Amino acid sequence: MPPPVRSLRVLVLGGTGCVGAALVRQLAERGHEVAVFHRGVGGCAANGAFHLHGNRFELEAFAPDFARFAPDVVVDLIAASAAAARRTLRALAATGRRLVFASSQEVYRAWSVFDGSDRGALAPAPLTEDSPLRCAPPPPRATAADARSWRDAGDDKVGMERALRAWPGAPPTIVRLAPVYGPGDRQHRLYPLFRRMQDGRGVILLPRDWAEWRSARGYVENMAAGLVLAVEQPRAAGRVYNLADAGLSGLEWVQAAARTFGWRGRLLLAAPLQTPPHLRVRANTAQHCHADSRRIRVELGYREPFGLAEALAAALAWESRREAQGSGERERIARDYASEDAVLLALGVGAAGGVRSANAMNSSAITTNTHTLPSGPTLPPVIQREP
Ligand SMILES: NC(=O)c1ccc[n+]([C@@H]2O[C@H](COP(=O)([O-])OP(=O)(O)OC[C@H]3O[C@@H](n4cnc5c(N)ncnc54)[C@H](OP(=O)(O)O)[C@@H]3O)[C@@H](O)[C@H]2O)c1
Repeated sequence: MPPPVRSLRVLVLGGTGCVGAALVRQLAERGHEVAVFHRGVGGCAANGAFHLHGNRFELEAFAPDFARFAPDVVVDLIAASAAAARRTLRALAATGRRLVFASSQEVYRAWSVFDGSDRGALAPAPLTEDSPLRCAPPPPRATAADARSWRDAGDDKVGMERALRAWPGAPPTIVRLAPVYGPGDRQHRLYPLFRRMQDGRGVILLPRDWAEWRSARGYVENMAAGLVLAVEQPRAAGRVYNLADAGLSGLEWVQAAARTFGWRGRLLLAAPLQTPPHLRVRANTAQHCHADSRRIRVELGYREPFGLAEALAAALAWESRREAQGSGERERIARDYASEDAVLLALGVGAAGGVRSANAMNSSAITTNTHTLPSGPTLPPVIQREP
């Protein structure tokens, strides 16, 4: 990324979370002066920034503090509804010269077809900034990790965006982030895979529909880099941007992670109903949800600073460090090796053991049923079973 034209004063609401910590660090590294607003209860630090503690539900009360800091740009990472957006605009529009809001790929109708709240026809993918938006709000968050303390009753980014577009003042920038992975990912999207590879599983079972499902994903440092461009470039005002890494299928994603980890087992794709319940995806996987992020690349010159292998290596190393610290994910993530092994046996592949036992599996069964992808010998072989 070229150096910024000038140093800015940037206020980041929610600047110590998953995306915020990376964003604040990158802004500081580029010479910007950064203040973060948060409650001060989260564990993650944003070093080098000025910290202002408060609750976003009382944002207006902090307007004098914000005015004293006099930001050039305000980034709101923790608005989840029209009411939240209006609160930020009331408290900050008069202060910050430009505003940038983090939104989500989940605003698209395609994601509501995927999550089952829309039973209509499949939406075309990849999703562009002009793709239709969802009519129904997303279903309630499944886990406590998803239910963030900054989300108000209406978790509705479509409503947030509508309120921003209706604002009569300077038009904010909206950045629609892909599901984020990497350090700070509270959903630990890579953990189930990391755990199985770390445990030396010889075969990893994947529901075929998930393996074929193509989705947007974004490495946290790449997402932060895209937000930095939206902060630095005045031409981003009033624009809506998708921000995502290249869209991969579930299988491509797992294979890339396995290659990065150095795991040498095999992947078995099975019909969803053949897989144990804890592995099944309860969603309409016929609806692909990958994003077209050409606009931010063309208009703001965005390029991922981190390639897939580097990003996955950092994400897996973070999961490993978290586990070494005994962070408790081990119990939270569903894994039931006994039922997975039973399925493998039923499919005639052999019980999953360590890599050694996988290598020692009945070689004729493996040979007749294994399809090694043409993309290179370093990818884990995939065992295809007809449904
Ligand atoms: N993470 C993803 O996968 C993902 C995907 C797509 C879009 N996005 C979007 O990206 C943005 C950032 O997401 P994130 O995952 O980085 O969020 P996050 O990790 O939940 O960030 C939470 C931040 O907000 C602060 N905070 C929490 N509750 C607060 C409150 N009531 N008042 C003031 N501060 C509060 C936290 O610090 P304290 O705890 O100290 O208050 C922390 O700084 C969101 O708009 C999200 O929708 C994220």
